[in-house]
Amino acid sequence: MAVLVTGGAGYIGSHTCVELLQAGYEVVVLDNLCNSSEKSLERVKAITGKDVTFYKGDILDRERLNEIFAKESIDSCIHFAGLKAVGESVAKPWEYYENNIAGTLTLVDVMRQNGCKNIIFSSSATVYGDPAMIPITEECPKGQCTNPYGWTKSMLEQILSDMQKADPQWNVVLLRYFNPIGAHKSGTMGENPNGIPNNLMPYITQVAVGKLPELGVFGDDYDTPDGTGVRDYIHVVDLAIGHVKALKKIEENAGLKIYNLGTGVGYSVLDIVKNFEAANDIKIPYVIKPRRPGDIATCYADATKAKEELGWEAQYGIKEMCADSWRWQKNNPNGYED
Ligand code: NAD
Ligand code: UFG
Repeated sequence: MAVLVTGGAGYIGSHTCVELLQAGYEVVVLDNLCNSSEKSLERVKAITGKDVTFYKGDILDRERLNEIFAKESIDSCIHFAGLKAVGESVAKPWEYYENNIAGTLTLVDVMRQNGCKNIIFSSSATVYGDPAMIPITEECPKGQCTNPYGWTKSMLEQILSDMQKADPQWNVVLLRYFNPIGAHKSGTMGENPNGIPNNLMPYITQVAVGKLPELGVFGDDYDTPDGTGVRDYIHVVDLAIGHVKALKKIEENAGLKIYNLGTGVGYSVLDIVKNFEAANDIKIPYVIKPRRPGDIATCYADATKAKEELGWEAQYGIKEMCADSWRWQKNNPNGYED
């Protein structure tokens, strides 16, 4: 039996493919490559020495999905495919709702028609909005999202939960990621953003490699120890391992489960700059800029539930996250284009 990994050529998906293959799973990837390169899957094969079955295609394409379910013995799906750029989602809300929501509705419909009712969904800490409690437990009420991307995650959580309630044969695990950074230790796989990065770590690595002149720090007047935003950064390999653990949970007939995947530790923007500089002996010039609209001051997880119920806990610390992000960027200044 195989696991269908939608969006498996992307940043988190490709790292998860490595961990799945190393744990002995058969992996089938569906990706339309709108934000990734098939080369990531070549790297997955090189690291693991195992094969991945790749289908280029879209989660909105019902026929293509049916073809995959007809050819492969798929018993569960890890669903990463989606558009994820916050700013772009404000400019193109329809495209985000169409791709992420209509795409997921199509996927789960084809899944159930083919008797496959096990899904792990990539959700986000963004569903907590401006969180009602810090650290954030899964009991924290969902909040107001500040952009259409966030709403797609919040709405899809609701849709998948309602489906599971109506049909308890479904096993649905909603994984709320905090801030994934880092890269595979080999330095051959990592995050490959298009254009100027929106997220902090790829911006820092592009400053480090000389592609961008300096980092803009968005606000130093938050109510945090140094005034800059605090987040829960998690190594992408730890996140990937969390998916393997979630799959084991599904195999025990999980029903509906929700887990935060974070480290439980908050770092400020300046903490990250300092740790990156220390880990890699590189200076990162920065300037303080105004706050970025929609940003919150502080967001970090209480990850106790994942530890207790999944036996999962993040292993990598901030030094490794900084060193691994840099190894990837340094070895691949143009991402997978080299
Ligand atoms: P990514 O863009 O690297 O990966 C997403 C993949 O999905 C890409 O390979 C893209 O080509 C593919 N895709 C998009 N739309 C598709 C479609 N209609 N059909 C088929 N393939 C499609 O992003 P990532 O960082 O690896 O994120 C993976 C998932 O995790 C996404 O759902 C994202 O929203 C979610 N997430 C990411 C973060 C983060 O900070 N990276 C945080 C929380 C949640
Ligand atoms: N930041 C800067 N300068 C930059 C980029 C970011 O100062 O150039 C700051 C932000 O203001 C924030 C912190 O760095 O304080 C982290 O910002 P990111 O853009 O890296 O991440 P966010 O916390 O804003 O959001 C990310 C993903 C969302 C996801 C959320 C929670 O982009 O999709 O984590 O998982 F929902």
